Formats: sequence, structure tokens, C-alpha cells
Amino acid sequence: MIDAYQTSSQARVNAALERLFVAPSPELARLYEAMRYSVMNGGKRVRPLLAYAACQALSAAPEQANGAACAVELIHAYSLVHDDLPAMDDDDLRRGQPTTHKAFDEACAILAGDGLQSLAFTALLDPVLSPLDAEIRLRMVSGLALAAGPAGMVGGQAIDLGSVGLRLDQTALEYMHRHKTGALIEASVQLGALASGCATDKDLQALNTYARAIGLAFQVQDDILDVESDTATLGKRQGADIARDKPTYPALMGLEQAKSYALELRDQALTALRPFDAAAEPLRELARYIVDRRH
Ligand code: IPE
Ligand code: IPE
Ligand code: MG
Ligand code: MG
Ligand code: MG
Repeated sequence: MIDAYQTSSQARVNAALERLFVAPSPELARLYEAMRYSVMNGGKRVRPLLAYAACQALSAAPEQANGAACAVELIHAYSLVHDDLPAMDDDDLRRGQPTTHKAFDEACAILAGDGLQSLAFTALLDPVLSPLDAEIRLRMVSGLALAAGPAGMVGGQAIDLGSVGLRLDQTALEYMHRHKTGALIEASVQLGALASGCATDKDLQALNTYARAIGLAFQVQDDILDVESDTATLGKRQGADIARDKPTYPALMGLEQAKSYALELRDQALTALRPFDAAAEPLRELARYIVDRRH
């Protein structure tokens, strides 16, 4: 089920994203090419899938969440372009291809990331991608700004880079992961739910409990895969965290404990979905997928 859901949702978000990369003039062709390269290069599209699934859990059509789906993937793609830069994780391979600063150059990669960040907000304001009333759009814009910014993903990246070579305890590690990865995953679910146009505060609260659990589980699994997968499967360099002495869950608690922690978080997420009916099945499947995935 998850395979078919993933394929159709990926096709939906890819079609919507593709339209955003048309350069308005020949002078901007290279910048737009770099932005397109950074987004239309595979990627599991987990965040867009979560946005669609949250919208569907509230019995709305997934197309209503097209703007939300594009926006969260654009922020994510920008974060990866910058995460891979020499000043940050210094990686050469992403989604099985040279990283943006390798395929283009560093300045171009920095600007492509900056451009993708702005495009994310444009997608939320586009009346075709986000056919929603102004109040809902405002809540989506503020939710995404908070999650992407210094109190969210950017803050998490700052902690990550300041923690190289340090031994963080579990509280500090969890704080970092909840910011660098969890915040955008939470926003993906929140924006998708808002896009349904009918989310109650109670729905949003239950969905947030779900998203907090899978947001953390997602990065725990990313840390696990860095240890036990391989570069070809991952499409990014295996062992990069160990090589750079990054604080990770396997480093803190050992591989087996990290795996059972990921499963515990999945179960917390599934429990939070108990009040929802069969329309929330894609969200349930995504929680399972996040800890079972091999890349
Ligand atoms: C990788 O994210 C970076 C993290 C936040 C852990 P994904 O595993 O979602 O990467 P893509 O989008 O599929 O390439
Ligand atoms: C990346 O975390 C988190 C963000 C980009 C915000 P990682 O540095 O662990 O991601 P990968 O492993 O390079 O994909
Ligand atoms: Mg990093
Ligand atoms: Mg990295
Ligand atoms: Mg990683």
C-alpha cells in the first residue's frame, strides 16, 4: 500500500514543483538550473507525503495540500544544499548525484539554497497551489517560518555544527534532533492538516503528537542508516557521521538501543492517531515506513 501511495504522491508533488523552475530571463538560467537540480533529483519526498496524508486524514482531497507539499520539500532541499557545503558537512554525494556545490560551484549552491527558501513561501502564497482562504494561508506561512528558522531547523543545524566531537547526553541530542529535523516534519503534518480547511484544534494537537514522535524517529533512523547501510543504497556517503565524530543516537546508546528507541517512537505516533478513522491509514503507514526504510 505504501509503495503505491508513495508513487502517486511523489508524482503529484513533482508535477507541482516542476513548474516553479522556469527562469524568468536568460541571465538567471544557471541559478534556476541549480535550484532545479537540487530539487528534481529524486529524494523520497517524505515531507510532502506527510502533508498530503495529514490533509487526507481529515477527509480532504490531497490536491489542496499541493502548496504545503511543495513548500516543505523546497525548505528541505535548501537545507540539504547548505548542509552539504564544505563549511558544514562537506559532502560530495546527495541522492546519488554530485552535491549542488560540486555540480555547480559554492556561491551558486549558496544562492540556490537561498532561492529555494524564498520559493517555499511563494508556493504557500500561490492561489493555484494553495487554494485556501487568507487566514489559513497566514497560519501556514507562520508555521513554516517558525519551523524553518532559528527556533527550528536553522537552530538545530547550528547546534549540530557546534557539537562536533562533543559527547551530548540524551536530552541535548534530542533537543538538537527535534530542531534540525523534527521541526520541519512537524510543520509538514501541520501545514497539510491546515490545508484541509477543516482542522480543529483537537485534530491539530493529536497530529502534532504524532509528528513529534515521527520527527524524532526520522533522524534516529537517519543516524542508524549512517552506521549500517551503504553508500550506493543511501545515495549519500555512509559513515559520514562517524568520520566527522558527530553526536548521533547509535553513538550515544549503541545501535540496538537506537533501533528499539525508533520503534518506541513509532508506537507513540500510532497511539496518537487512535482517534482517527481509516482516512488516517496513509499517516499510519508513513510512521511504519519511517523506521523500516533502508535509505
Ligand atoms: C535527509 O533527509 C536529511 C535529514 C533531515 C535526516 P531525507 O532522508 O528525507 O532525504 P531525501 O529527501 O530522501 O534525499
Ligand atoms: C541534516 O542532517 C539535517 C538538515 C539538513 C536540516 P544530516 O546532516 O544528518 O543529513 P544527511 O545525513 O547529510 O542527509
Ligand atoms: Mg548535517
Ligand atoms: Mg549532512
Ligand atoms: Mg545524517
